[in-house]
Amino acid sequence: MMTTTFTLAADSANPMTVNRLGYGGMQLTGAGIWDMPEDIDNAVAVLKAAVGAGVDFIDTADSYGPHTNEVLIKNALHPYDGVTIATKGGLLRTGPGAWHPCGRPDYLRQCVELSMRRLGVDRIDLWQLHRVDTTIPAQEQFEVIAQMQQEGKILHVGLSEVDVPTLQTAQTFMSIVSVQNLYNVLNRQSEAVLDYCEQNGIGFIPWFPLGSRRLTDADIAEDRSGFDTIARIAAEHDATSAQVALEWLLQRSPVMIPIPGTKSLSHLADNMGAAQLTLSESAVAELAALAS
Ligand SMILES: NC(=O)c1ccc[n+]([C@@H]2O[C@H](COP(=O)([O-])OP(=O)(O)OC[C@H]3O[C@@H](n4cnc5c(N)ncnc54)[C@H](OP(=O)(O)O)[C@@H]3O)[C@@H](O)[C@H]2O)c1
Repeated sequence: MMTTTFTLAADSANPMTVNRLGYGGMQLTGAGIWDMPEDIDNAVAVLKAAVGAGVDFIDTADSYGPHTNEVLIKNALHPYDGVTIATKGGLLRTGPGAWHPCGRPDYLRQCVELSMRRLGVDRIDLWQLHRVDTTIPAQEQFEVIAQMQQEGKILHVGLSEVDVPTLQTAQTFMSIVSVQNLYNVLNRQSEAVLDYCEQNGIGFIPWFPLGSRRLTDADIAEDRSGFDTIARIAAEHDATSAQVALEWLLQRSPVMIPIPGTKSLSHLADNMGAAQLTLSESAVAELAALAS
């Protein structure tokens, strides 16, 4: 079992300590991450159960639904009582499965204003730029985010899907406390960003920590040999593949904050069980070698 907390913005006036095993709300929507989930009562139950199990860091975005995910989280958990809600903005939605970056400063301002309203807060704990819009200067996007932080609408700022140079550019405008990039035991394309985050005390939030079921479901596994190795190590530890994938992330770096998503109460319990698992040194090494 690994150290269970990380302090975001540790050197600021407003440090935020969170349990490193968080929850991602994106699965609590309809198909194509569009509209409300079919079973709203179940979604509310999952959110409450996550908090009941010790989750105090929940990731969402205005584009999940769009908008419905934030509303659901507010209805289930407001006034949050020590639970940090991290949201994101900067993507347009034109239909199920369709996502388009939009970094126009007036649009980013609208994103923040409306997320505050939907979440029922007068300041967003952690607001993340979902994507840097490459069709307009990054500087314009970072400037308006820094302004909104100075105005007190955003407490802390994070980025999503960035490389190290973009992260460093953003850092010249404001303090960046977290990065949310695709990363899991079978996908290490963001290794350099993770290392930079670790060296600089920045939280690293790996999205798709379970590979969006590619690590747990043999029928959609893309790397069958990696999938089988995870399953074997799980059996050796009397654990599940999901628990092994999550615990490997927790053991990989002290700045790692996985946010596994699920609409299932039993999968939620399974995922939370990862914190009770300790992988042997040889298992960690074997898993690390899968995608080196
Ligand atoms: N920044 C970005 O661009 C970005 C992109 C994608 C996602 N995200 C964030 O990252 C979070 C996590 O991503 P994700 O939910 O897409 O992917 P994920 O956590 O890798 O996997 C979720 C999928 O795995 C299944 N699952 C969950 N726990 C399981 C378990 N114990 N055993 C078997 N299957 C299990 C879920 O199905 P069930 O619902 O049936 O359990 C769901 O289909 C999202 O909620 C979102 O907050 C961010």
